[in-house]
Amino acid sequence: MPYSPAFGDHFYCQTDGRLECGHVFLAGNGLPQRWWNGSDFLIGELGFGTGLNFAETWRQWKLNRLIGQQLHFMSFELYPMQSGEIDRALSHWSEIDAERHALTAAWPDTPQGTVSLRLDDQTSLSVVCGPAFDGVAAAQADFDAWYLDGFAPSRNADMWSAELMRLVCEKTKRNGTFATYAAAGFVRRNLIAAGFVVERRSGFAGKREMLCGIKS
Ligand SMILES: C[S@@+](CC[C@H](N)C(=O)[O-])C[C@H]1O[C@@H](n2cnc3c(N)ncnc32)[C@H](O)[C@@H]1O
Repeated sequence: MPYSPAFGDHFYCQTDGRLECGHVFLAGNGLPQRWWNGSDFLIGELGFGTGLNFAETWRQWKLNRLIGQQLHFMSFELYPMQSGEIDRALSHWSEIDAERHALTAAWPDTPQGTVSLRLDDQTSLSVVCGPAFDGVAAAQADFDAWYLDGFAPSRNADMWSAELMRLVCEKTKRNGTFATYAAAGFVRRNLIAAGFVVERRSGFAGKREMLCGIKS
């Protein structure tokens, strides 16, 4: 169970981070159903961490994509991990063995700048190294969906600030969405102020609430 002493928090829930990803980030963004219209899709993520959300999303994408359809997963990470650390964290789940092997084989020894990986004919990964605020500000693209996955809002305020949520919303397509495991009042207020219509849903594994929403 990867843990950050700097932030005093775990990288994902202790019950099952892979299933949490399905409940919170995929289902919270209406995935995989939104892929079924065949359009290309751009996901933004705040906090790449171990790459668990990416690996599980890639696995589900392969099961659901249509011929020729493209997924670009762009994640923003201040402290990119080493390949061996990613490998060790993800080896907990045999379901994502194939994705772990491919990701760690392609991952650079010294991740810096933007790590751009073409992982298969229909899947690209970009990890923008540095503060998320700077990375999102510089991103040109129109995002279809966001995974907001900083550490707990009480310990990682930069990842949930009003300014960053405003930027995230600005870079989102109309009818684009976000999802997060977080439910703190200030996060919800920042997302509403940024321009999202925010919904509370049941959280994963006994967590009372999570948030998701749409840019209408
Ligand atoms: C909860 S973990 C993300 C878990 C990850 N999504 C996964 O699948 O393993 C939060 C991540 O946010 C990163 N982080 C914290 N503050 C940041 C900032 N200001 N800008 C970018 N990344 C940040 C941390 O280094 C950590 O990797």
